[in-house]
This record gives sequence, structure tokens and C-alpha cells, in this order.
Amino acid sequence: MYLKQLTCNGFRCLRDIQFEPSPGINVIHGDNAQGKTSILEALLFAATSKSHRTSTESELVAYKAEGFQIAAEATRSDRNVLVEANWWKGAKRFKVNGVAQTRVSDILGKITVTFFSPEDISLVKAGASVRRKFMDMELSQLSAGYLAALQKHRQVLRQRNELLRAKHPDQDLLAAWDGQLAQHGALLMAERGDFIEELAELAQIAYAQIAQNEGLQMTYKPDVEVDADYAAVLEKARPIDLQRKMTTRGPHRDDIQLSIDNHPARSTASQGQQRSAALAIKLAELNLIHRRTREYPILMLDEVLAELDPHRAGHLFSAIEKGVQCLLTTANSANNHPITKQAVSTYLIKNGRLAKL
Ligand SMILES: Nc1ncnc2c1ncn2[C@@H]1O[C@H](COP(=O)(O)OP(=O)(O)OP(=O)(O)O)[C@@H](O)[C@H]1O
Ligand SMILES: [Mg+2]
Repeated sequence: MYLKQLTCNGFRCLRDIQFEPSPGINVIHGDNAQGKTSILEALLFAATSKSHRTSTESELVAYKAEGFQIAAEATRSDRNVLVEANWWKGAKRFKVNGVAQTRVSDILGKITVTFFSPEDISLVKAGASVRRKFMDMELSQLSAGYLAALQKHRQVLRQRNELLRAKHPDQDLLAAWDGQLAQHGALLMAERGDFIEELAELAQIAYAQIAQNEGLQMTYKPDVEVDADYAAVLEKARPIDLQRKMTTRGPHRDDIQLSIDNHPARSTASQGQQRSAALAIKLAELNLIHRRTREYPILMLDEVLAELDPHRAGHLFSAIEKGVQCLLTTANSANNHPITKQAVSTYLIKNGRLAKL
């Protein structure tokens, strides 16, 4: 999949953006605070309806403005897809090929992207909730059934927790919630298990390409054992749940275990190893989406050059398949970098305005 054109107005500091990247490697240069990350964030928003930096969407609106518009046009196989995002005074609306979407989630998967930002080191470094969010984001893009189960599971979980906090929880209602939680939860766990197994294999390959002579191991760690009956687990946990007034068991407690050369990456890996691992996971995700959809997502790499030495960056570049459109940002204007040397198109962003070089 290639991004043909991105236009946006009123989004953060960006002004009258008309970005027409080429299918290969595109490098966006610019000093700090000129809008490099914002332009990638705008495309991410059009593709996923979310920002990687904030969940408070009003922060995305340019200071003193009341809304923003983003239009992203991409080509997949021989078809064009146009996603338009319109945010106005707190209301967000999406159109796909000119047709208004009733649910924002309907836009997921229309334009697929893989985004790597410096914050992604948290995938390796931070707590389990970051890794669960990662699984949910990726699987929601890949599977409509997963997204539906996720939304229902969240809703039932909220209701069950509410009931657990009641003075005298109705046992029949609790049993009903348990049934629904088990049904949706089982689907989440099954899809997560398959996804991580496949991703682990691809991440191991990508990691070996970037870091060489080191192995990355990735294992799905479900809170409820794979072979266990989730409904039975819930029933057994009920006395504890009633005591703690919360649902203690289920996929909302899952994690992914990451190890480098069989040592836990979170607590023993070096900063550089953690970064390389996060990057390998993102490249694995890109290859997995390609496997499943026969289409490469658009790869966005925010400031990877600042984080990797030229040696590792060179390895990274050879790990990226030909045919992947890559949008890369760098505050580094040096043109002798292994990646920038192979750039097809270069751009300069200054004060929120983008110009082709
Ligand atoms: N809602 C907003 N309206 C206007 N400007 C904003 C808004 N939100 C953030 N900014 C400003 O936009 C500028 C560009 O931010 P951005 O993160 O895109 O920069 P960058 O080029 O990626 O910089 P760096 O090299 O430091 O990562 C910053 O000065 C930031 O303060
Ligand atoms: Mg930035």
C-alpha cells in the first residue's frame, strides 16, 4: 500500500500540508519542533482514528483553531482508498471514499500503517498494559471479529466490575456477565495466541538482522491458561472478585514475555537492545500484515536515525523489504546516512510547512 497524498489543515502546527510521497523511501528533514512527528501523527490519525501521543483529541487542534481536517489517499493493489477525518468542536467524523462512516471503528484497516516512534521502547520497558494495547491495536486492524469481541469484552467487564462494587451483587446477573465475558474473552485469547506465535517468529528474524548474533524471544503469557475453561476460572475466582470488588482473571491481565538471549528484556537488556527489540517487533508486524493481507502497510519511522548507530541503521534498512513505502523523519540533515542516501524523495519541514527538496 502506498500513500499517494496527505493533506491536512488545522492539525497541531501543520499548515496547508500537501504531501505527495513517492512509493519508496521518503525522508522528511527538519529542525526540532518544526512538525516532523506531527505529519506522521496526522497520517496515523487518518488510518486509526488515534494519536500515539495523546488521547485528548482537542490537543491535536492547532492553537486558536476549532477543528482540523485530514485527507489521506492511498493505493492498495489497483484500488484507491480515500479516508477523510474531520474533527470539529469535539465531534469526529470519518468518510471513506466519500461515504460517511457511522462508527469510527469502521475505518480501521482501510489504510494500514506501521508506526515506529521513540516512545515505542515502552513496548519492551514498560508494564503489561502497553503490550496489551499493542496487541489490541494490531489485531483490531487485522480482524473485525477481534475488534467486535474487544469492544464487547470491555463493556461486559465494566458492567461486571460495577456489579462487584454493589452492596449486594445479584448472583444471577453475575453468572450472566461471566458467560458473556468468557465467550468474548476466549476469542481474544485465541487470536492473541496465534498472533504472538506468528509475530515471534518474524520478530526473531528481524531482530537477528538488526542486532546480529543475538536472539529475541517473544511469548504470549495469558492470565488464563490456554487450555483452561475461562468460564470455570471466573466462577472459581468469584469469591476473591467479590472481596476485591474487581474482575481478577481474564485477558485484561495478559502480557507478552520478551527476552533477549533468554534473559528478560525488560529488566536486563541494554537501552540499545531494548530499542532494537521494539523496532524488530514493528518490522515483524509489518511483515505479518503483509502475510495476512497481501499488502504492505505504510511504514512510518519517527527519528530512528537518532537512536541507532549507522551500522545498525544499515542493517535495519536491509531488513526492510523492497516495495515497502517508508516515511522517515530526521532532525539530522547529514545526507551521508545509509538510509538517507537511498532516499527516493526528500522533504524539508519548517514552521509547519512542508516543501519537497
Ligand atoms: N495543537 C497544537 N497547535 C499548534 N502547535 C502545536 C500543537 N501541538 C503541538 N504543537 C507544536 O508543534 C511543534 C512541532 O511538534 P512536532 O512534535 O511535530 O515537532 P518535530 O519536528 O517532530 O520535533 P522534534 O525533532 O523535536 O521531534 C512543537 O513546537 C509543538 O509545540
Ligand atoms: Mg519529533
